[in-house]
Amino acid sequence: MTLRYRKVLLGITGSIAAYKACELVRLLVRDGAEVQVVMSPAAEQFVGAMTLEALSHRPVRTALFDREAEMSMSHIELARWADAVVIAPASAHCLAKLATGLADDLLMTLCLATRAPILVAPAMNAAMWENPATQEHVHALIERGVQVISPDVGEQACGETGPGRLPDPEYLRAAIEELGTDSALKGVHAVVTAGPTREPIDPARFISNFSTGRMGCAIADALLERGAQVTLIHGPIDIPLPPDADCVAVTTAAEMLDAVMAHVGDCQLLVANAAVADWRPRETTGQKTRKSQEPRTLELEPTPDILATLGQKEPRPFLVGFAAETENLEENARTKLRAKNADLMVANRIGPDDGFGETETTLEVVDADSVMQLGPDSKSTLARQLVDHIAVRLSPVSSVVDFSHAARRTTRSR
Ligand code: C5P
Repeated sequence: MTLRYRKVLLGITGSIAAYKACELVRLLVRDGAEVQVVMSPAAEQFVGAMTLEALSHRPVRTALFDREAEMSMSHIELARWADAVVIAPASAHCLAKLATGLADDLLMTLCLATRAPILVAPAMNAAMWENPATQEHVHALIERGVQVISPDVGEQACGETGPGRLPDPEYLRAAIEELGTDSALKGVHAVVTAGPTREPIDPARFISNFSTGRMGCAIADALLERGAQVTLIHGPIDIPLPPDADCVAVTTAAEMLDAVMAHVGDCQLLVANAAVADWRPRETTGQKTRKSQEPRTLELEPTPDILATLGQKEPRPFLVGFAAETENLEENARTKLRAKNADLMVANRIGPDDGFGETETTLEVVDADSVMQLGPDSKSTLARQLVDHIAVRLSPVSSVVDFSHAARRTTRSR
């Protein structure tokens, strides 16, 4: 659904249309995607790596046996890194290699090693496109689940007129945005809480925490990608909000509780990711307390516990809580799971180098009798993995493939 934080591996092969890939990179980066360009040896004859590096803000990868590049990220790591593999333009030669699994260059090796969805946009001379050999390769790829964008018909660089033109970069951008999305959570309404809350002391001061709302927004994005309708109830945050979510801005824990109660009526899933302030001043003064005044003792009272309140509701949505912990992650998360009557508790480690604000983190997903570790990885990747797991739990017969083969899972009998 969204390109934000999406990791796109863009392969460019030998076709005159390679120049359009430059504009495609610009559009993807503009929309927040991370783009790693990989050029086939022939592509280098058509467009300069320096242009693509400037547009993607990353070194372009070209050779399979590049020791320096392999040291920083091996080709297998690169294949795992990608959320989507796109080849635009894809030459006839590239389609033939992809169809037969020939891994004789970096791009083809990555295509064999990745588990991400693959999209190819062929571009070539009309006769080459219509040649039965090319058509057979294209059909084999479609049967194997590769998404193929039909070339446009029109005037070609070689002087002929026919099918073989690479579609406009904007069209390709839209196709990439849709790639890998499915409807596993179609019809599900999810409420997500995100960010911190602020509890005012006086008109100038408040109690809060370091939460940035990044994880909550990544979860909302991942739910949208799976087809859910998302209401995002967020405290004060200054990161871009998911454009397709219904967003409700609140400040205090009490306001967040009110907003959640107003929206959970028809919801099947609540992901309580907000770092709700635990306490608030017992009294809030209407006037600013002067610095010259005697230092006073701030009396605190607990804020309403939103997740625990929902845990007592009958019927209640599937409840996913978050536990930011500095130690004993699994144990503390399971205690909270029981105390709040939630279905899943996701523990994340916070500390000097972890947690709030960091883009990479590790999660432990705890339910009544098992724990699953995810990461370390980017918050967007972890959010997608978590949402896939939630989708399986919500409808066990859903078409979502549980990602747990990729995660370390330990199940304990209790
Ligand atoms: O703060 P605590 O560790 O108890 O938070 C665990 C979970 O409970 C989180 O999912 C958080 O969003 C939720 N919570 C809440 N209302 C509070 C405190 C926490 O919904 N007042």
